[in-house]
Amino acid sequence: GERITRDAYGRPITYLRISLTDRCNLRCVYCMPAHGMKFAPREELLTDEELLTIVRAAARIGFSRLRLTGGEPTVRPGLVELVRAMAAIPGVEDISMTTNGLLLERLAHDLAAAGLRRINISLDTLDPERYRIMTRGGRIEKVFAGIAAAEDAGLRPIKLNAVVVRGLNDHEVPALAGLTLERPWQVRFIEVMPLEGVADVHDAGLVTSAETRARIEEVFGPLEEVEAPLSDPARVFRIRGAQGTLGFISPVSEPFCAFCNRIRLTADGKLRLCLLRSDEVDIRELVRRGASEEELIERIRAAVWRKPWGHGLREGDRRTGRGMSQIGG
Ligand code: GTP
Ligand code: 5AD
Ligand code: SF4
Repeated sequence: GERITRDAYGRPITYLRISLTDRCNLRCVYCMPAHGMKFAPREELLTDEELLTIVRAAARIGFSRLRLTGGEPTVRPGLVELVRAMAAIPGVEDISMTTNGLLLERLAHDLAAAGLRRINISLDTLDPERYRIMTRGGRIEKVFAGIAAAEDAGLRPIKLNAVVVRGLNDHEVPALAGLTLERPWQVRFIEVMPLEGVADVHDAGLVTSAETRARIEEVFGPLEEVEAPLSDPARVFRIRGAQGTLGFISPVSEPFCAFCNRIRLTADGKLRLCLLRSDEVDIRELVRRGASEEELIERIRAAVWRKPWGHGLREGDRRTGRGMSQIGG
């Protein structure tokens, strides 16, 4: 039969975002609450073998792109071996990771050698003190070292993710955009999404991509649009003459649900059908009782079929069920 799996709306779903852990070595203000964060007990998390079994089944039905997320994926023990094993699965064509970069200095080369192709690194500010505030304790020097190591290891393209929070880092938008003048990076500006536990960053009022873009154009002049696939959550532009590009990710002001190509696998083994909706389908239960690959494939297909059309933020529906760090963005 057809190798590609489509959802009930005809969207090809070929991209699996895998949360490797709900833990993190930071607690960013837009991602985790200041207090009372609970982490899943170890026995709830998928083991490497369980994870690989699910990925093998998914790859058989057209999931060719994998992105490793968290929490923070680099805090998972045995990460490099896990990447190597994933890269060896027939049908897996592209493995990428989204990370805060703190541990990359040590890991980047081994990850690239194991088969990681691309990397997105969170960087919301260029100021050490502001970084400490926004991440609740992180050291920005580590991130810069991580970016350098990723470049050195040949991970391309390097995308830097900046979540724009009014009153915290919005004044740094031009400085962050200016990084692309000299570096071949894609600096991406992300609208804050109102997931569970981070109400306070929302109270300050959304900075839309339109506002962010206007701030950049005030300093650097009109941006040139760069072609990008519609399933890419970012719309991509370039400052005239710049080495790198700018991405605007606008899940709130301009939802890209119509071109969504992804589902998620949570660290505790649930297929999560939309980042911003609570619908989930258990698959851990199946792997734990030794189900066949056919049964796993059936479960994944059924889950994809249940994928909702889009999020309900505009309608005021904010029941996301979990916080960002438990889903992986
Ligand atoms: P590539 O396009 O493969 O480089 O990655 P990506 O942009 O999909 O991944 P990344 O983890 O860097 O995510 C960037 C931002 O987009 C984060 O804030 C994510 O939460 C957000 N994002 C990713 N996928 C979705 C999605 O399906 N829906 C929504 N609303 N936001 C998403
Ligand atoms: N809204 C938008 N993006 C977020 N991220 C984390 N929390 C939020 C939020 N509330 C981003 C991180 C990381 C990516 C996986 O998701 O900055 O780059
Ligand atoms: Fe950790 Fe990423 Fe959440 Fe920051 S955004 S607390 S780095 S999982």
